[in-house]
Amino acid sequence: MSEKLSDCPDWKYLLQEFDVLYRHGSAGGSKAIRSHRKRVRDTLSAIVEEDPPIVIDAPAVKPVTAHLSRALDLGARSAVSGIARALGHVAASLVWSYGYPSVPKALSRKYAYAEVLGPTGPVKADGLILGFVLFAPGTTYPQHAHQGIEESYVSVAGAWSENDGAVYAPGSLILNRSGVEHRITTGEQDPCLLAYAWTGPAERLAAPGMKFSSRRGVPRAGA
Ligand SMILES: [Fe+2]
Repeated sequence: MSEKLSDCPDWKYLLQEFDVLYRHGSAGGSKAIRSHRKRVRDTLSAIVEEDPPIVIDAPAVKPVTAHLSRALDLGARSAVSGIARALGHVAASLVWSYGYPSVPKALSRKYAYAEVLGPTGPVKADGLILGFVLFAPGTTYPQHAHQGIEESYVSVAGAWSENDGAVYAPGSLILNRSGVEHRITTGEQDPCLLAYAWTGPAERLAAPGMKFSSRRGVPRAGA
């Protein structure tokens, strides 16, 4: 099904909620985070203004999506309830992926991501990728970095940590600048749902060339 964004109000409202995440709240005094937040919302505003195509493929689930309802319930009573509720309205049409040709079996039950906007859609756009990543309770997502891409996560549900440095709660924004290695662990009790944004050159976003760092046998590419 191929339509314009304006034909799909639930998707447009979801993008509005992304705008809220990146427009309101504080950058915590960080110039780098402030400029990233501005880049995300300015790029998003320009994309929405153009009323881009939206292509809804056949929905796809992964084992971890059995935890999505719980994550949405937690998100709906969190500081960022707007985006959790908006995601719930399009949940049935999300395409959940690993982003890797093959994934270690243990990890394949623990995580998946769904893109919302980007070069491969569903909302077709260059210069920005928006999506969600879902982790089962007690996940370790291996160390990786993104070359030429700035990545931010906004925590929607659950508790998680990056590089054993802090515990993040719903509403927290974490910026991973280009090339910075990061590894994620999630809390034992509940799933963890993060919204993410990637900014960078359009050609880089179209072919991010992701890989895990220094892990024998772990495949290339992904989110
Ligand atoms: Fe990352």
